[in-house]
Amino acid sequence: MTATDDRLARMKPHGSTHHSRIPSRNLPPGPRWPALLQSMALMRFRHQFIPAMHKRYGDVFTIRIVPKSAPLVLFTRPEDTKEIFSGDPEVFHAGKGNAILGPVMGEHSLLLLDSTEHRRARKLLMPAFNGAALRRYESVVSQLARDEVATWTDGVAFRSLERMNALTLEVILRVVFGVTDQARLAELRPLVNKTVDVNPVILLGWGYPFLQRFGPWKRTVDNQRALDKVMYAEIAERRQVSDLDERTDVLSQLLAVGSTDEDGLSDAELRDQLVTLLLAGHETTATALSWTLYELGRDPAQMDAARTAAEAGDHDYLEAVMKEAMRLHPVIPMVVRQLMAPATIGDRELPEGVTVGPSIIVSHARSENFPDPTRFRPARFLEGTVAANTWIPFGGGVRRCIGAGFSLMEGVAVLREVLGRYDVALPGDALDVPMVRNITSVPRHGARIVVHPRADSPGLLPSPM
Ligand code: HEM
Repeated sequence: MTATDDRLARMKPHGSTHHSRIPSRNLPPGPRWPALLQSMALMRFRHQFIPAMHKRYGDVFTIRIVPKSAPLVLFTRPEDTKEIFSGDPEVFHAGKGNAILGPVMGEHSLLLLDSTEHRRARKLLMPAFNGAALRRYESVVSQLARDEVATWTDGVAFRSLERMNALTLEVILRVVFGVTDQARLAELRPLVNKTVDVNPVILLGWGYPFLQRFGPWKRTVDNQRALDKVMYAEIAERRQVSDLDERTDVLSQLLAVGSTDEDGLSDAELRDQLVTLLLAGHETTATALSWTLYELGRDPAQMDAARTAAEAGDHDYLEAVMKEAMRLHPVIPMVVRQLMAPATIGDRELPEGVTVGPSIIVSHARSENFPDPTRFRPARFLEGTVAANTWIPFGGGVRRCIGAGFSLMEGVAVLREVLGRYDVALPGDALDVPMVRNITSVPRHGARIVVHPRADSPGLLPSPM
């Protein structure tokens, strides 16, 4: 049995609720339609469905999802969000909600663990994502961004999402996995591209293992085997290098932590964490960046302000630009926790087994949280008016996205390279809207933009870090 077979055999496809149906009378109000219909609305039309439920039922509402008509209670006010984020991690489990990704990410994945196991893994991963580590990654990210934007053609409209996906993939391979060998990069790219395509049809194959003998599901399992083989080879080779301490990539940092800590990460754990970082960090960051370019392209005044900031090396403003794009266009719609014991949130007593979470979509669109909420105005993040627990694209508490700083660093580096070279605009008809793809909400038309080299291009702008 290979390591992949072993993992697949041990992973339960659905780790979801073990509870029988929870009666609606104990829960906040919500639609009475069949769970299948509500699930489909959540999957396909969440940007209309969730705000409509908020409007109809108020600040706290329950939707029912398949399987088993499981209740999902969504909260929208910052005081409730705060209670969820700071809830006892032994009661507010996050790993359960992500169990569906288990067969791909693996049982050791940070996203899937809870309690003591989660604390241990998080502690081992953290040093690779702290401020000092991020500064070490920055020059490679900038170089990759520079290479990418150098390929863009003057005046030809293109889907920025596609280019940002290509770029963030390269960032993961080089900066997270630390692969520099060209042959191995060429081997990894298609395997990784196929791995991140976790669409509902593919997920079905994990739910019903007999499917894995056929068509797309067989190809997925074969792809996983091939990816695992390359990853284990890379891990084994990296364990042997003599200059681990000098290497500035996430895998090397994780190995370096392990070498000073007898409780370091095993090969299987490293594999699972790397695939997790890939799945959690690639499309999400690309999507946030493409919305950012789209919003700048849409508004020449904002474009000017961002360019001026880039010229002045104003890191904070560029970060505010990305934050504001992530506010207006949440990449992930909600954060979820499953209650392992009865809990009170606000004045609501909720039974064990319920899944609860703040709605990112509603929280970011409330005018109490963000005056004039539909307007793209990055400066709001520099005015000290954004209250805690209102801007929550990365979740919060002990489960807050471990890559939040990484993706903002990446975003600022990319913006600096783009704005140092080009003016960004939208092609005439390019208004875009969100569409659900895999787990994220992406711009339906790929956030098409058009770039023109700047007449006064000063070339590459100085790095502020
Ligand atoms: C714009 C980009 C990103 C967005 C919007 C995003 C969003 C999120 C959200 C909403 C969560 C769940 C938080 C919670 O439950 O409270 C999360 C968790 C996570 N993210 Fe990100 N993420 C992004 C980029 C990244 C990157 C670049 C990486 C790694 C390189 C990453 C790795 C992770 C991991 C490992 C977790 C699980 C943390 C845990 O359970 O302890 N993410 N992310």
